[in-house]
Amino acid sequence: MPQSGEMMDWLRHMKVGQSIEKVNTGKLEVSLLASKNGTEIIHHTLHEGGSWGLTPQDGWNELESVFVISGCLAYTSGDRQGIVSPGDTISTEPVKDHVIFTALEDTTFLYICSNAVFHFYSEITQKFQQLAVDIEQKDGYTADHCERIRRNSLLIGQRMNLSSYQLHCLNFGSFFHDIGKIDVPDTILLKPATLTHEEFDIMKRHPEFGKKILCSTGLPHLHDASTIVEQHHERFNGSGYPNHLKGDAIEVGAAIVAVIDSFDAMTSKRPYKRAKPEAWAIDEIISGRGSLYHPDVVDAFLASVDDITKS
Ligand SMILES: [Fe+2]
Repeated sequence: MPQSGEMMDWLRHMKVGQSIEKVNTGKLEVSLLASKNGTEIIHHTLHEGGSWGLTPQDGWNELESVFVISGCLAYTSGDRQGIVSPGDTISTEPVKDHVIFTALEDTTFLYICSNAVFHFYSEITQKFQQLAVDIEQKDGYTADHCERIRRNSLLIGQRMNLSSYQLHCLNFGSFFHDIGKIDVPDTILLKPATLTHEEFDIMKRHPEFGKKILCSTGLPHLHDASTIVEQHHERFNGSGYPNHLKGDAIEVGAAIVAVIDSFDAMTSKRPYKRAKPEAWAIDEIISGRGSLYHPDVVDAFLASVDDITKS
């Protein structure tokens, strides 16, 4: 096996264009470089703020390695956190805890697995992409909105030292929080006037619709995230919907999305309203601390507010 320095030389001579197959999801570009007897070498480019992870699975007993070529990855595995820099390798056999990586800058790395995963990977990616397009086509939302909610929710989750499993759920749950709006009729979703009581009752079912959609994909990643989607409109004092859950009965990931999504909604321009100034929205979040919003989430939000982007 080449040592890391030799590996770097070898990679410099290798063109990514020589890959067998490629997948591009916006934040992540994946190329299958080589494959033999089940072993695969997959090149990844993960753009700044993007996340990627390893998931344990029953009956899975393979070697998985991540070798960073350039950039920098922060990772959480169980309750451990660390940084992976160029030349570093992380290997697991098999992966026992969820591992979630976040790119601190544009990062390239190799993922080497002793079993063929690329085609399954492509299939999952295509399903995710289709769901993202479905969201985009509804409610005037763009993929940027979903990506911003995901990125900012993960910032809060990392600041609150959530476990890698909780971050994994938050990663998908935050991105797909409003996927249930696909099942809300356009006449309600796009109505340019105030909704009637009956229409609002239907709109309020989108968390429940979203949970069903994620569970129906058959993808464990999305199944794990479905509770966050179901609970993202619950409020700390029980005034939310659909189940009027209170306090810690609300999953922490859903409590995080509640704050980030509220802040984003207040500071976003919509056809029927102007964007509010960020300082005004921050005051609203503070005034909801302990009533609408979980106090610990509000504290983490305030500690992260300089990193929370509206771009
Ligand atoms: Fe929502």
